[in-house]
Amino acid sequence: PDQPTTSPFPATLDAIVCRLPEKLCKPKIGIICGSGLGGLVDALRETILIPYAAIPGFAQSSVPGHKSSLAFGLIGAGEGVPVVAMLGRFHPYEGHELSTVVYPVQVMAKLGVTDLIVTNASGALNPNLSVGTIVVIHDHLALPNLTGMNPLLGPLISPELPRFLAVSDAYSTSLRRLLFLASHQLSLETDALAEGVYAWVSGPTYESPAEGRFLRNAGADVVGMSTVPEVVAARQEGLNVLALSLVTNAVVIPDKYRSVKEEVMAELMGKSVELAVPEVVSHEEVLAVGQEKGNVMRKLVERVIEMLSRN
Ligand code: 6GU
Repeated sequence: PDQPTTSPFPATLDAIVCRLPEKLCKPKIGIICGSGLGGLVDALRETILIPYAAIPGFAQSSVPGHKSSLAFGLIGAGEGVPVVAMLGRFHPYEGHELSTVVYPVQVMAKLGVTDLIVTNASGALNPNLSVGTIVVIHDHLALPNLTGMNPLLGPLISPELPRFLAVSDAYSTSLRRLLFLASHQLSLETDALAEGVYAWVSGPTYESPAEGRFLRNAGADVVGMSTVPEVVAARQEGLNVLALSLVTNAVVIPDKYRSVKEEVMAELMGKSVELAVPEVVSHEEVLAVGQEKGNVMRKLVERVIEMLSRN
């Protein structure tokens, strides 16, 4: 393990570049589309889709609602800016190694991407966040990173990369500023967007009430099963990162658990008791909100890219 792993970079890059016309070969901006947010691809022109199956080193995304392709195309007014978008990402819960999860980001960096826009779906831990809100992530809480599941564990994939990476400035302030300016230009309501801390968990189980409370008490606003590995890898490569999280459901954290003891005691005393109905989250509702709000996310991302390309 102290030897650098042989990476299929040259084979990967060849397989991609040989399928692209000159003007799509050097994307400046990378996009990762989360659950139900693949509609972003409709914003691209002269699109070329390359299935992951055709790219050495890429895995398949097995999650419903995730396509498994890289999309190359132009976005924005005039000539347009070349971008590359991942339609479907890899998650550790699918059984992928973290090195597989972050590989596409490392490939994007090799292709010349300088700015990465990442989207995901999340559950709200902060009771002030409602379903459909887009949270601009400004920091993360990544228990896996602290406990032996850090995507950067292991040999450096290239010697020039930093060994010890600071993540205090992982989420670009200037890109976050652009996002809020874009929102203003698009006349979105002010409460369409919020800012917050994203807790990354491995999944695939959703949080128990105690786990939800734990993450909330630790300072997280939303929770999800993706994004942080890709962000960390992107930062190691020196990319600027913008991460947007669509709240698809609330993680309801009851003040008080349903006490079966109290219920039974009350019943035995002849009193009627009101049962608390536990909230259960489903992947279907996550996808549905993604489809509904996906176009807002798409417009925002498009606008930010236009603003970026003018600088
Ligand atoms: Cl509630 N939890 C996690 N871990 N991921 C989610 C989610 C909840 N909702 C959407 N993605």
